[in-house]
Amino acid sequence: MSAGVHTVAVIGAGKIGELMLSGLLRSGWPVDRLLATARRPARAEELTARYGVRVVDNLTAVDEAEVLAISVKPQDAAALLDEIGPKVPADKLVISLCAGLPSSFFSRRLPEGTPVVRVMTNTPALVDQAMTAISAGAHATGTHLALAEEMFKPLGATIRVPETQQDAVTALSGSGPAYFYLLVEAMTDAGILLGLPRQVAHDLIVQTAIGSAVMLRDSGEHPVKLREAVTSPAGTTISAIRELENHGVRAALLAALEAARDRARELAAQAE
Ligand SMILES: NC(=O)c1ccc[n+]([C@@H]2O[C@H](COP(=O)([O-])OP(=O)(O)OC[C@H]3O[C@@H](n4cnc5c(N)ncnc54)[C@H](OP(=O)(O)O)[C@@H]3O)[C@@H](O)[C@H]2O)c1
Repeated sequence: MSAGVHTVAVIGAGKIGELMLSGLLRSGWPVDRLLATARRPARAEELTARYGVRVVDNLTAVDEAEVLAISVKPQDAAALLDEIGPKVPADKLVISLCAGLPSSFFSRRLPEGTPVVRVMTNTPALVDQAMTAISAGAHATGTHLALAEEMFKPLGATIRVPETQQDAVTALSGSGPAYFYLLVEAMTDAGILLGLPRQVAHDLIVQTAIGSAVMLRDSGEHPVKLREAVTSPAGTTISAIRELENHGVRAALLAALEAARDRARELAAQAE
C-alpha cells in the first residue's frame, strides 16, 4: 500500500469520527473516497446531510475501503470486531482511534498480517489544531505510518510515538483540551469574583490563553522563562503563584494525569 488518496471508511462516525471526516474534506480529500458507518439511521442521515458522505453498513465499508478508521467507543470495539474482524482482508490498513486499546486488541481479532496503526487525536481537530500521536502496531510499515500521517496532518500537528507511550499521550493530549477548558472556566469565575462582567472576563482569558499558547509554540523558550518574564519581584504575579503552589495545583495535575492514564488502562481491560 503506497501513500496517496485511498478510500477511507470511518467506522462508528461519532464525535471523533466526524472530526476526521470533516477534516479530510476540508483538506480536499474527495468525498467519493470517504465512507462512514453509524449504528443509528438518524445519525447516518445526519452525516450524509452534513457532508454528502455515503453511509454504508460495516461489512460494505470493509469491502470497499482500503483504510478502516475505527472510532467506536472502546467498550463497543469487541462487538464491532466480532462482526467485521474475520471479513477484513489482510491487505487493508486498520487505524484505531480508540483510547486505551492496544493495537494487539485489534490484531488478535483480525486476520494474521493485517497492519494496525494506533492513533490518538484530540478535539481541536475541529479547527485544524489537533495534536495527533501515531504508533505502529503489528505489521505496520513506514508506508502505513506515512499514510496515517497524510490523513491526520491536515487536522493539525502529528507526532510518531512508540505504542508504549500511547496511554500517557491519551492522558496528556487526548484529554488535554478538557483541562484547559476547566482552567478557562475557573479563571472566568475568578474574573467575576473580582468584579468583571462575565463576557469581559471570558474574552480576556481566552485571548490570554491563545497568546500564551502561540508564544509557547513560536518562541522556542522554556515555559519557566516565559513565566519569569511575567513575574516581577514583589509583584502581583508572584502573589498569585504562591497561592497556586499553596493549593497544590502542580501536584493536582500530576495526580490527574496519572488517573487519566490509569482509566485508559482500565477501559482497555474492560473491553477485552
Ligand atoms: N471525544 C474525544 O475527545 C476523544 C479524543 C480522543 C480519542 N477518542 C476516542 O474516539 C473514540 C470515539 O469517541 P467519541 O467521543 O467519538 O464517541 P461517540 O461520539 O460515541 O462515537 C462513537 C460512534 O460509534 C457508533 N458505533 C458504536 N458501535 C458501532 C457499530 N458496531 N457499528 C457502527 N457504529 C457504531 C456509535 O453509535 P451510537 O450513536 O449509536 O452510540 C457512535 O456514533 C473512542 O474510542 C474514544 O476513546 C475520543
